[in-house]
Amino acid sequence: MSIPTLDATRSRLQGLGQEHLLHFAPTLGPSALRALLEQIAALPMEELSGMMRETESQSAQDLSALEPVPVVQRDGAGSASFRAAGEALVRAGKVAAFTVAGGQGTRLGWRGPKGTYPATIVTGKPLFRTFAEQLLATERRFGVRLPWYIMTSPLNDADTRAFFKDNNWFGRSPQDHFFLPQGLVPCIDAQGKAMLASPHEVATNPDGHGGAIRALDRSGALEDMARRGIEQISYFQVDNPLVRCVDPVFLGVHVAADHSSGQMSSKCVSKRNAAEKVGVLCRGPGAGGARTMVIEYSDLPKAAAERRDGSGELVFNAANIAVHVLSVAFAQRLAKGDGPRLPWHRAQKKVPFVDATTGKVVEPEKPNAFKFECFIFDALTLAERSLTMQVQRVEEFAPIKNAEGEDSPASSHRIQSDRHGAWLEAHGTQVPRRGDGSVDAKIEIGPLAAMEAADLRGRALPKAVQRGQELVI
Ligand code: UD1
Repeated sequence: MSIPTLDATRSRLQGLGQEHLLHFAPTLGPSALRALLEQIAALPMEELSGMMRETESQSAQDLSALEPVPVVQRDGAGSASFRAAGEALVRAGKVAAFTVAGGQGTRLGWRGPKGTYPATIVTGKPLFRTFAEQLLATERRFGVRLPWYIMTSPLNDADTRAFFKDNNWFGRSPQDHFFLPQGLVPCIDAQGKAMLASPHEVATNPDGHGGAIRALDRSGALEDMARRGIEQISYFQVDNPLVRCVDPVFLGVHVAADHSSGQMSSKCVSKRNAAEKVGVLCRGPGAGGARTMVIEYSDLPKAAAERRDGSGELVFNAANIAVHVLSVAFAQRLAKGDGPRLPWHRAQKKVPFVDATTGKVVEPEKPNAFKFECFIFDALTLAERSLTMQVQRVEEFAPIKNAEGEDSPASSHRIQSDRHGAWLEAHGTQVPRRGDGSVDAKIEIGPLAAMEAADLRGRALPKAVQRGQELVI
């Protein structure tokens, strides 16, 4: 792309009331000026006033009409036929994996792409490797190639690509990896003005995992999928080492005409307790009738979060584990400018900025800016029909988000061992358990050995695991 000139950039920004971004331009050397002009050229400056307007009028959601979402059980009746339908889809090469990995892992305190974090309990396999091995195992089982689309951000794209290259793409074909950096959006002050992080750089933030739709389109990934005959996108976050990257049962449920339009489906688990920090899947009024939606924990009033039904279960119990299937046709429809699109959300944040008079960076003490993001789960309310499948937490959800406490490496390791201990028990191995029922050993079963308990059938397994033992299969 050729970079617009200073004059062209100035007249673009003048028309938008954002020409102050060029305040320091006359003082910049050639490379700094070039960097600034290049950055501005790539930013969606024309959208800023619309984003402000759209989010100003976003009143607090009316949650009084919310209802629990109906769920299909993964292990329920029909599971075998769903599996067969999903396997047929995988075998026909119609499925791609898609990981959103643009986040910065700030809460975890990990320097580097989150996918490079050593996640497994004994061997410390990085998250990306755990996914790659599942894809490899699936490719071998079904005799197909599984393209993997990975959304990065401009902040971690180069490091992510280098990690895959250094690891020889974990034994998969390099051609089946497609990295797509998500977009950035300017941070805006209370007057709607974009801010400078330095004299030659606009303050920005990644446009949220909902930016995936734009990124898939702009990068040519949707075209690449169409060319390869891909029909369904298996979407998951980078932070969950137990995620089933491509789950035939879920795919089968998603495409079963009786249940779903095949546009977008989601997985959930039972909430651990009313206060768990997860979004909840529920049903609420939307355009054209009741729609599935995710309400973030921060938006769900305490009384609603704690409400219980006659049998003592939480009414809003369907925790969003951020695993979805979207059809390529649905993603294409969302990406086109003419149809409904994902709404922006804004949050007030502290954003350091350059003082125009002194040229010095100011570290604000209070939130001074809006950051804008889109969320992929808002696409659920744009789907005419949508299906939610409930899965067991111990089988599929052990995210690593925080350095300590809930959703930390330690909590994830415990769940990993509980899952793998249960798989061994299903085949007759004695596994030591603590008083609270958790497995008292460190057991890791890699995806190339088994992706679910049934895969261990016919393997030589130990008769018993000792208390505290480390075991890798
Ligand atoms: C998210 C969900 C929550 C769900 C929980 C399950 C949101 C707002 N909430 O919470 O409903 O219950 O996961 O674990 O998402 N990402 C990008 N680009 C971005 C921002 C994020 O790629 O600009 C990716 C991250 O790399 C990560 C994922 O999106 O893989 C989740 O992001 P995060 O902000 O950590 O969401 P949570 O607060 O954990």
